[in-house]
Amino acid sequence: MMQSIDDIRTRTVLITGVTRGLGLAMTHRFIQEGCRVIGCGRSGTEIEALNSHCGSPHEFFCLDVSRDEEIEEWSMDVLNRFGAPDLLINNAAVINRNAFLWELTESEFSQVIDINIKGVAGIIRHFVPAMIENGQGIIVNFSSGWGRSVSPEVAPYCATKWAIEGLSKALAEELPEGMACVPLNPGIIDTRMLRSCFGSSSASYSQPEIWAEKAVPFILGLSCHDNGESLTVPE
Ligand SMILES: NC(=O)c1ccc[n+]([C@@H]2O[C@H](COP(=O)([O-])OP(=O)(O)OC[C@H]3O[C@@H](n4cnc5c(N)ncnc54)[C@H](OP(=O)(O)O)[C@@H]3O)[C@@H](O)[C@H]2O)c1
Repeated sequence: MMQSIDDIRTRTVLITGVTRGLGLAMTHRFIQEGCRVIGCGRSGTEIEALNSHCGSPHEFFCLDVSRDEEIEEWSMDVLNRFGAPDLLINNAAVINRNAFLWELTESEFSQVIDINIKGVAGIIRHFVPAMIENGQGIIVNFSSGWGRSVSPEVAPYCATKWAIEGLSKALAEELPEGMACVPLNPGIIDTRMLRSCFGSSSASYSQPEIWAEKAVPFILGLSCHDNGESLTVPE
């Protein structure tokens, strides 16, 4: 069911990975749509710039989603001051350098797992109970084309995005009525992540700001009827 414009305008949206790429573009677009945005990322300078550019009632925090104790502290502060988010967007992720699986070190492999899977689970662990208590809310976990297909040299990343599909669909079965969790494939967009795996050919894909013009209204239109569906941002 589509939300009314008034519902959309007053929503609190929590987004991980707001310092660049899709997270940054979504932040600006959600703010334009009248939402309050609470975001995080590891790059302190970009977080400071967002705080001084966007100002209250939006807030951005320097945080690593692979560190559960940092999420716990952040969630207590956010829930205390802003209440449960209406929309929880797990966008933060990394991709491994292009290489065959056996060429990647244990720490390179672990970093992708720790951020892309354990980071998402951590954000869910610390924010979703308050959303359940509030009786409503939508959780959007960023998946990928590589969460539904595969390519060589990105095996760790593919493994994490296939995990996001499974984790999201299982969580969808656990949520009470009125809530939803969806794995969302954003499409292919020219970001630092895409440049890492596609090289210079990434320039032929959409810019994040253009992508966000369709993606944000699409996300704002999600409802409990979408629960558990593998979705893709329309082109
Ligand atoms: N671009 C595409 O074509 C494409 C396609 C399919 C799926 N996706 C998915 O879309 C999402 C956004 O990707 P993107 O292309 O925008 O990537 P990006 O440009 O590399 O941006 C990734 C964002 O995640 C943040 N991040 C990474 N590790 C983090 C951590 N440990 N803690 C907190 N924040 C962290 C980064 O900020 P810091 O470095 O400051 O922490 C950055 O803001 C990802 O889930 C990606 O898998 C993208």
